[in-house]
Amino acid sequence: LARELISQSLQSAQHCLEGQDFGTAYAHYVLVLNLAPELKHDVKEMFQFTLFKWAEELDSLTRIQDLFNCYEQALELFPNDEVICNSMGEHLFRMGFRDEAAGYFHKAVKLNPDFADAKENFYRVANWLVERWHFIMLNDTNRNLIYQKAIQKKVCSGCRTVLDIGTGTGILSMFAKKAGASSVYACELSKTMYKLACDVVAANNMEGEIKLLHMKSLDIEIPKHVPERISLVVTETVDAGLFGEGIVESLVHAWEHLLLPPKPKNECVGPDEYGQVVPAGAVIFGMAVECKEIRRHHRVCVQEIAGVILAETVEFHSPTYAAINSDETVEPYTTEKLSRVPGGYVPLTEPFKAMTVDFNDLQELKNLATRKPCKISVPVSRGGVLDAIVVWFVLHLDHEHTLSTSPTEETCWEQAVYPVQGLPGTSCYSVKPGDTVTMDVSCQDCYLRIQNVSLVTSESGMDIERNFSENTVSLGNEAELCSALASLQTTSTLDCVGKECVLESTEISLLNNVTYHECFKAAISKVLSSLTPSGQSQSMDVDSHSSEMDLKKIQDPNASDTIPDPLYVLDVSEGFSVLPVIACKFGAVKAYSSIEREHHQTALSLISEVNNLPKETLEFWHNQLEDESVLLQRPKSDKLWSIIILDVVETSGLIQQEVMEKAAISRCLLHSGGKIFPQYVMIYGMLIESQSLVLETAVQGTEPTLSLNIAPFINQFKVPVRVFLDLSTLPCVPLSKTVELLMLDLMNPYLNSSSREVKVQICKSGQVTAIPFWYRMHLDEDISLDTSSESSHWKQAAVVLDKPIQVQVGDEVILNIQHHKSNVSIMIKQ
Ligand SMILES: *[C@@H]1O[C@H](CO)[C@@H](O)[C@H](O)[C@H]1NC(C)=O
Ligand SMILES: *[C@@H]1O[C@H](CO)[C@@H](O)[C@H](O)[C@H]1NC(C)=O
Ligand SMILES: *[C@@H]1O[C@H](CO)[C@@H](O)[C@H](O)[C@H]1NC(C)=O
Ligand SMILES: *[C@@H]1O[C@H](CO)[C@@H](O)[C@H](O)[C@H]1NC(C)=O
Ligand SMILES: *[C@@H]1O[C@H](CO)[C@@H](O)[C@H](O)[C@H]1NC(C)=O
Ligand SMILES: *[C@@H]1O[C@H](CO)[C@@H](O)[C@H](O)[C@H]1NC(C)=O
Ligand SMILES: *[C@@H]1O[C@H](CO)[C@@H](O)[C@H](O)[C@H]1NC(C)=O
Repeated sequence: LARELISQSLQSAQHCLEGQDFGTAYAHYVLVLNLAPELKHDVKEMFQFTLFKWAEELDSLTRIQDLFNCYEQALELFPNDEVICNSMGEHLFRMGFRDEAAGYFHKAVKLNPDFADAKENFYRVANWLVERWHFIMLNDTNRNLIYQKAIQKKVCSGCRTVLDIGTGTGILSMFAKKAGASSVYACELSKTMYKLACDVVAANNMEGEIKLLHMKSLDIEIPKHVPERISLVVTETVDAGLFGEGIVESLVHAWEHLLLPPKPKNECVGPDEYGQVVPAGAVIFGMAVECKEIRRHHRVCVQEIAGVILAETVEFHSPTYAAINSDETVEPYTTEKLSRVPGGYVPLTEPFKAMTVDFNDLQELKNLATRKPCKISVPVSRGGVLDAIVVWFVLHLDHEHTLSTSPTEETCWEQAVYPVQGLPGTSCYSVKPGDTVTMDVSCQDCYLRIQNVSLVTSESGMDIERNFSENTVSLGNEAELCSALASLQTTSTLDCVGKECVLESTEISLLNNVTYHECFKAAISKVLSSLTPSGQSQSMDVDSHSSEMDLKKIQDPNASDTIPDPLYVLDVSEGFSVLPVIACKFGAVKAYSSIEREHHQTALSLISEVNNLPKETLEFWHNQLEDESVLLQRPKSDKLWSIIILDVVETSGLIQQEVMEKAAISRCLLHSGGKIFPQYVMIYGMLIESQSLVLETAVQGTEPTLSLNIAPFINQFKVPVRVFLDLSTLPCVPLSKTVELLMLDLMNPYLNSSSREVKVQICKSGQVTAIPFWYRMHLDEDISLDTSSESSHWKQAAVVLDKPIQVQVGDEVILNIQHHKSNVSIMIKQ
């Protein structure tokens, strides 16, 4: 009977697949596999196919829970299937569960080390998490040492039981154990980190002595997970903005449910044991700065780009600004290592104390979230442009041991950056000594927030003062005065509220780059004029300005008897792009934008309107180029594209995935004489010695971790290619000149140049530790864009060698370069 059921189910599954009913087909396969596990091998491929199709459908229906249930079921049936693991990881990654995704990618790679897709995915996600993986923190010997001393002191003074919240690699727990604590508990939410901590603790022979819990501290119950209340909580769940990893919430919970009562205040003799927290508290500092790099990433500073007027009705903001008005809990700051920010920064005020917090005071912690924002005003000490408020803190582990994350400190920490945007009452952000910067500081939804930044200039300040004294109104203090002023200014600008458009900071820096757009404009102009159906156009001067005029004349419908068809331009660059509008301005062009988000489309339409372009010249191409079948359905089947703009390089410095495949499709869709932008891309690189890069990429030995054995475990997560690098400020010594590594020709079919050997002359002796690489994108033979420029929206990437290679002046080194999907591999042949 069972046999019959199995064969029936198999048939039904096939039948459903033919009818594209993946859900039912999936159910049939699950039934079959449960009844007849011996068939696993035979039906595996069909099962996978069905699973992936069904998951796609569930995803588009946003039935997320069902989707993950299917995967979990599938992994129960095929626990060691790397393809399913990888696919699960991809779904998780897209939904923002990067930690969990990393776990699945890692597992897939472990199951099959040759599985290139999983490896690429794993490196991608590990790169995102590089900070979280604490390479840099673990390298910070000073930080480790101070934590160790503070923990040791507490344990020696009588704290017997310790809970480490958010243990990461387990390092603080091991410090507590080594100091002699009798019971140590550690919790970690991330599954990947939890497993790592288990391995690390075992490798350091403390397996039976530290109890690791895979859960949030908020879910810990006494006596279920921990037998009794504990005397010491240690934690380093702090981010650049101090509160961003939820330390306040977890400590409130710990004080209420997990810790012994605190030491009674004002009593000399207390109980022997009481609850304590390391760190005991923190002082948060702020400072107003001028910083070009922050400015160009958060404020659109140009009114016109390559002849396109940016609509005044569109207000562009970066996500940190949007976070202020939205209910979503988006981080209201970005982070930056100011000591390495390209172009540097200039302090405009002295550092000021923004907030203090006592982690040993439950009432204070509880009040933190409900406290009214604190108004702070700071005198400007130096003239400049007000670009951001930067924030750091001093962590008081106890009375004696402190850690500072100040930008002037040698530390692994970055600072929190609150870009100043939408300054009320002014579009000019310049300040001078005598002015005052005011702001509201608060802690809400687990973030330190700095809001309502405004400027009181010395003139207006005096005005108001005079008015107030005339009216003999006595306002309490300066802060109140400033807030009164701020509200005055706000009302005066209320009537120019425009359409808000939130762009990623890289999109804003791209908009600010006039050169980039001018280059595209010139290249577009050349292609369009060469395709214009008129004898004249062939000999036309290609100087961008005159050709634009000529083009209009030539294409004036009244000039010829027939109305020419427009030329089609398709822009499939990632993110917000005004290139289609630039193309439309040439006239007789119909441009398609691949922008997807609705408010981005609205903004682009507004810009097009302000530039007096007829509505029908700009259209939105909702679907991505990946979907071949859709792309092949041309807007007009007899028309082909004149220009297709592809994004070849990600802002991270990596090549976009499958760009050569996209180019191959695009080539089939081009008009004769049509062009892909860029037409070809050169990859450049050089050999460098950079100790910083090595230390940031992997933990070196046991010295930084105070002789604990952690490096080999955490280093499993190191990536061979570092991304989002600022080459211009990376401490390094070049050991060779720049060399051409590889050419990617988008206009010609694969010449199989995606693998190549290059000779490099060494011009300085030293240790090669890394090979940074970047790109020059050739829009045509004359016009190109370089991604290594400090002021472009691109960052750079670098291959970091596993082992440094010693070289001498005059040596010749051979590099082997390969390109596969987005994976550029550069190896030194010895
Ligand atoms: C990248 O390519 C190199 C050489 O082809 C290969 O050894 C490496 O495993 C690849 N990495 C990934 C993540 O695919
Ligand atoms: C690594 O830690 C050492 C000691 O704390 C520090 O001097 C160095 O700057 C750190 N390096 C990096 C790249 O963080
Ligand atoms: C301040 O005084 C000036 C002139 O003295 C006047 O124009 C202005 O309206 C006054 N502002 C307020 C807020 O009273
Ligand atoms: C910012 O200022 C406005 C007006 O002065 C006020 O209504 C608002 O509550 C302030 N925002 C915060 C977060 O304090
Ligand atoms: C083109 O011709 C139409 C009607 O024939 C006329 O209304 C229009 O003004 C002409 N445009 C130009 C630019 O000459
Ligand atoms: C060139 O590359 C293509 C695509 O990877 C491949 O199909 C073809 O066989 C290669 N040709 C040669 C000569 O290696
Ligand atoms: C704009 O971007 C290009 C290409 O990356 C770069 O070379 C240039 O320096 C940038 N220019 C400005 C003004 O930002």
